[in-house]
Amino acid sequence: AAAQKGAYPHYMLKEIDEQPGVMRTLVQEYFDASGNVKIDQDLLDTLGQADRLYIVAAGTSYHAGLVGKELFEKLAGIPTEVHVASEFAYNPPLLSKRPFFIFLTQSGETADSRQVLTQVNEWGYPSLTITNVPNSTLSREASYTLLLHAGPEIAVASTKAYTAQIALEAILVKAYGEAKGIQKVKDFDVASELTKVANGMQELVDEKHNVEQIAKEMLSTTRNAFYIGRGVDYALAQEAALKLKEVSYVQTEGFASGELKHGTIALIEEGTPVVAIITDPKTAAHTRSNAQEVLARGANVLFIASRDLATDNDQIVLPEVDPLLSPLVSVVPTQLLAYYTSIQRGYDVDKPRNLAKSVTVE
Ligand code: G6P
Repeated sequence: AAAQKGAYPHYMLKEIDEQPGVMRTLVQEYFDASGNVKIDQDLLDTLGQADRLYIVAAGTSYHAGLVGKELFEKLAGIPTEVHVASEFAYNPPLLSKRPFFIFLTQSGETADSRQVLTQVNEWGYPSLTITNVPNSTLSREASYTLLLHAGPEIAVASTKAYTAQIALEAILVKAYGEAKGIQKVKDFDVASELTKVANGMQELVDEKHNVEQIAKEMLSTTRNAFYIGRGVDYALAQEAALKLKEVSYVQTEGFASGELKHGTIALIEEGTPVVAIITDPKTAAHTRSNAQEVLARGANVLFIASRDLATDNDQIVLPEVDPLLSPLVSVVPTQLLAYYTSIQRGYDVDKPRNLAKSVTVE
């Protein structure tokens, strides 16, 4: 059935709001009653033989891949590379002996990603497509498919597919690590962590009017903006920046916060918006000191921090979830910032200029 906007003014807002439900659906789809992951054994056997994972994707899906790399490496200890499909296609990296390819693609139709899959099939390497669309081209052509179960995503700017992809990557890591007997993975209760995430997301969407106000004060007339963070917060910063530029046409960069001082800080002027994402205890103090550097140069800084790391001055406080899954909650206010900025600037948020939902040319 075609998705309906219902009471929502735009699909993008509806799809942002649907994310807690998508998390719960994924838990239902991929865990049985006794809490075991349900993923095809043949897929797990093949994946288990790989010595390195290659995640290939475009756009927002690529950003979900950046978070997936952290999950695979930190929890399961398997080396993982993430590649932009259009780059990999004609400049492939040196491959390991037993590579396994993961294609992240909401639509399952992106030509850049398909080009790589065709090559991978010629090489004879195993592959998995993680997609929202059953029977899509990349689903049919890969060795295996896992479905996102996010429901149709209509807005051109991707929101719920991003969080569904990250959640499903976490579920896949769980299945992989359990099969291998990896203690760190056994200790990581993904089903309950994702349920916690769903509740956290709900708190954030319920506070959307707070974000609407911040967007108005901070972004409704700006020319440019920055998102900064470290580790998964850097991965998130890149997605947050893409979302804002896609729908509001504000030139936005997602930057590793420690790298800013090595050049880009030259762009900071009186009033330049900088959003600092802080969810990792290891780097919270460092990112705060980088934020001080831009504050001292007149930047208008918005802090988005996890509850356990937040100070009284942080404008957006995130519900606590496992630090490796923090992008699932920290992305929500950044999606809302993009949405409200677009609306306040008078743009067609569901159909931004020059963009297509699925790009079927290379
Ligand atoms: C297009 C869309 C993006 C999307 C990208 C990859 O550029 O506008 O929102 O992230 O394609 O799409 P896919 O369907 O492969 O995830």
